Amino acid sequence: MAAAPPHVLLFPAPLLGHVSPMLKLAKVLSLRGLLVTFLTTEHVHRRLGADEGLNCHPGFSFRSIPDGLPADHPRSGGQFMEVITSLAAQSPERYRDLLVSHHGQWPVTCAIVDWVMPFTAVGKRLEIPVIAFRTGGPCSFWTYLCTPRLIEAGEIPFPVGYDMDELVRSVPGMEGFLRRRDLPSFCRVKESSDPILQAIASATQRTTHYRGLIFNTGETLDAAELAHIMSTCPVTYTVGPLDTILCALDRSTGSAAGPPSSSSPGWWREDRTCMPWLDAQSPKSVVYVSFGSLTVLSRPQLLEFWHGLANCGHRFLWVIRPDLLEEMDGAGDIPVELAEATKEKGCLVEWVDQREVLGHPAVGAFLTHSGWNSTIEAISAGVPMICWPFFFDQMVNSRFISEVWRIGVDMKDTCDRATVGRMVNEVMEGERADEMRRNVAGLSEMMRECVDEGGSSRIHLDQLIEDIRAMSL
Ligand code: UDX
Repeated sequence: MAAAPPHVLLFPAPLLGHVSPMLKLAKVLSLRGLLVTFLTTEHVHRRLGADEGLNCHPGFSFRSIPDGLPADHPRSGGQFMEVITSLAAQSPERYRDLLVSHHGQWPVTCAIVDWVMPFTAVGKRLEIPVIAFRTGGPCSFWTYLCTPRLIEAGEIPFPVGYDMDELVRSVPGMEGFLRRRDLPSFCRVKESSDPILQAIASATQRTTHYRGLIFNTGETLDAAELAHIMSTCPVTYTVGPLDTILCALDRSTGSAAGPPSSSSPGWWREDRTCMPWLDAQSPKSVVYVSFGSLTVLSRPQLLEFWHGLANCGHRFLWVIRPDLLEEMDGAGDIPVELAEATKEKGCLVEWVDQREVLGHPAVGAFLTHSGWNSTIEAISAGVPMICWPFFFDQMVNSRFISEVWRIGVDMKDTCDRATVGRMVNEVMEGERADEMRRNVAGLSEMMRECVDEGGSSRIHLDQLIEDIRAMSL
């Protein structure tokens, strides 16, 4: 009897920043000849348009399960914890069934799951190897892994009257630059028994027991942090940037079938009117502004950013998602001077193809919340950043952007128009801006080398595929 072909089931958390890179990996594995099942919630499935032609790629199929929330629940950016909690309560049984009952498919050889959903590790008890996908980068993961040391050393919780700028001593390799304010946001607690801190610390420790760990990055970007991580998680695959690998594979196989390669297939409707607007701008003259898919702004914060952008010397393209504002009521009442300035030098859209925008010659800088996908996309495109991290790993990413890679500035914990204007100008003009541009161009080249034939990401991808094939023997 012929051996069962390797069959991988991927299950991301129902959040764009998690679905998008895992979908790219799914397509890469499928193009490399593995059978792939991509499991999502019914809501995400519909949002991806998964019934409309995405199942056409042979060997690639979508499955979906309910998330337990009512159909009319908005599931908007600010409510992501509710969605994950409901899914965790609702889906373990359904997920377990999908792992063991094959529904006419080949049995699952290996599951690639999202570390934020610890229940997905159940595969191990079923003797199905489970690999974790970390949607954040190695730099933040190393700080997550050090949480127990930070607690033991008394560096978390933060004492009363603490100095946020004091350097942290318990994250090896980062002693010289990581301040309290740069630790992941869940460390900003009053008690070490804080339930979110404890839940994240234990989910992170569990990650070390998986068969392996996947990162969407190139190994040279975070080499020092990866070396630390590998002392605890020896089987680590750095297979990114997945965008670039996918494009290269699409080209070499002549394949346009299967799930599309855009940064966020179908999440919000892309507004392409900004492309002719960008075409009409001079090279590197535009600040692209986007806070990813989860960040929520208060109206005062929105106005501070808006004034800062209107008053800086540059044009701007700003993604204002339909659920970006905490309360959409009153969002339409924009002061006259802002409306005028926007007409003259701005372009507002609800959603774009971010990869395409970052790759446009008119874009000179990216005002970002420092989500890992956005960070990797900006580095690949060679665009320097102004960071306003919102939560979780973004606090660490923005510190690496400003202090380690020196490809941007970090306005963490401040949100006033003067700082926005000053920092935008710092990244857009002058000697420091030139230096940041040179640095990010260097990193972009380094990332390209990782994904070129024979580069480290290709080698890691080959190893991952070989390891999965070996599991099916
Ligand atoms: C989250 C976390 O913030 C991030 O740090 C974590 O590691 C993964 O999940 P999110 O907040 O949405 O994700 O940010 P980010 O990781 O940057 O992902 C946003 C994605 O949306 C990017 O791939 C970006 O290209 C895409 N996007 C954003 C668009 O395609 N169009 C837009 O208009 C805006």
